[in-house]
Amino acid sequence: MGKRKKTYRFGVVGAGGRGGRFQAGIHAAGGQIAAVCDINPESLDKAAGELGASRKYTDYLQMLDEADLDAVIVGTPMPLHAKQSIAALKRDIHVLCEVPAAVSPREAKQLVAAAKQSKAVYMMAENYCYMRHTSLMRHMALKGLFGQIYYAEGEYLHELKELNEVTTWRRKWQTGVAGVTYGTHSLGPILQCLPGDRVVRVCCEDTSFRHTDPRGDEYAQTTPVMLCKTAKGVLIKIRVDMLSDRPDAMTNYQLQGTDGAYESSRGGPVDHGKFWLRSLNEKMEWVDENSLWKMKGVSQKYLPAEWVRPSKEATSAGHGGGDYFQMLDFVHAIEGHPCPLDVHRSLDITLPGLLSQKSIIQKGRWLEVPDSREW
Ligand SMILES: NC(=O)c1ccc[n+]([C@@H]2O[C@H](COP(=O)([O-])OP(=O)(O)OC[C@H]3O[C@@H](n4cnc5c(N)ncnc54)[C@H](O)[C@@H]3O)[C@@H](O)[C@H]2O)c1
Repeated sequence: MGKRKKTYRFGVVGAGGRGGRFQAGIHAAGGQIAAVCDINPESLDKAAGELGASRKYTDYLQMLDEADLDAVIVGTPMPLHAKQSIAALKRDIHVLCEVPAAVSPREAKQLVAAAKQSKAVYMMAENYCYMRHTSLMRHMALKGLFGQIYYAEGEYLHELKELNEVTTWRRKWQTGVAGVTYGTHSLGPILQCLPGDRVVRVCCEDTSFRHTDPRGDEYAQTTPVMLCKTAKGVLIKIRVDMLSDRPDAMTNYQLQGTDGAYESSRGGPVDHGKFWLRSLNEKMEWVDENSLWKMKGVSQKYLPAEWVRPSKEATSAGHGGGDYFQMLDFVHAIEGHPCPLDVHRSLDITLPGLLSQKSIIQKGRWLEVPDSREW
């Protein structure tokens, strides 16, 4: 990245929660946290102190109007993402918004209209696209090492029943709705391996088993599985499970192409990601991901530049470096470079999950996913 033109003034909304986790990336990208906002006054005071913000607000619109911001991080609960992004875009303030971009197709349309009319950049903070193994997967895919990719899987398995009781919006918006409500971490890293392609149809089913919350009420989902078909004919399976009792495995991906296959680690002490690439070995044998890093010349050749020797600051910033590297891309986009997760790509990743929620009500019917570029 070239020399920075200026020190960008960031505002953070939802600063007492996830919004407060972007500090390392903001500083690395040449920004400063000028203002923070949270409706919880205690969390607000704590965040202002920790993030070094000189101005604090309990009213988001007041922050946008008064704090002279270049950019805002939207780190509030899901149902606020689109509304708060739109309010900033209307003021030509750049937006980096937490996932997903919207909670309904209607909101998604409103977001696209605001992004089209704004001079500011919109980017969705899909940090799982920026982890080491997803970056490697993307670079190898873009270099054609898997040949033609025709099948992929993504899974987010994260038991959070207890967290549902603390951050109660989760109980309603993530586990209170049937279907894939939190699918962007799984679909995002896969779609970035398929440039120029998008999901055009989805169907979704769940098991009939239901967990109950501490009040005895049933959650609306157990382990929904969404099948996606892309415009170019790739089949993608997405499984999201935020309720089943089991160890976490949130960053699972598989790719299958004509000349290679990838299975990421599902976590645990003995499980490593593994590759088979015809260009490395004609015999169909796995190569352990850790061995691949160490093969002479291989990591230099296949790893994205930022991952060859990442700084400690980057790797300790959160989500395996994802929280850090996404911020560099966001500021790069503010400076006029293409935004890898612009409003349309963000909706390519968000809309399939929203349609899966309709599909599950219609007993797993395949439904068309609209292309936001046509709106
Ligand atoms: N990308 C990731 O890896 C990742 C990780 C965790 C959470 N998230 C996303 O981040 C978002 C926030 O999650 P969280 O775990 O921090 O939730 P949280 O409930 O812990 O924190 C949200 C914060 O927003 C504040 N808030 C709520 N309404 C507000 C309003 N109108 N104006 C200002 N502040 C308001 C709350 O007081 C709270 O401090 C969610 O959308 C979640 O899906 C993403």
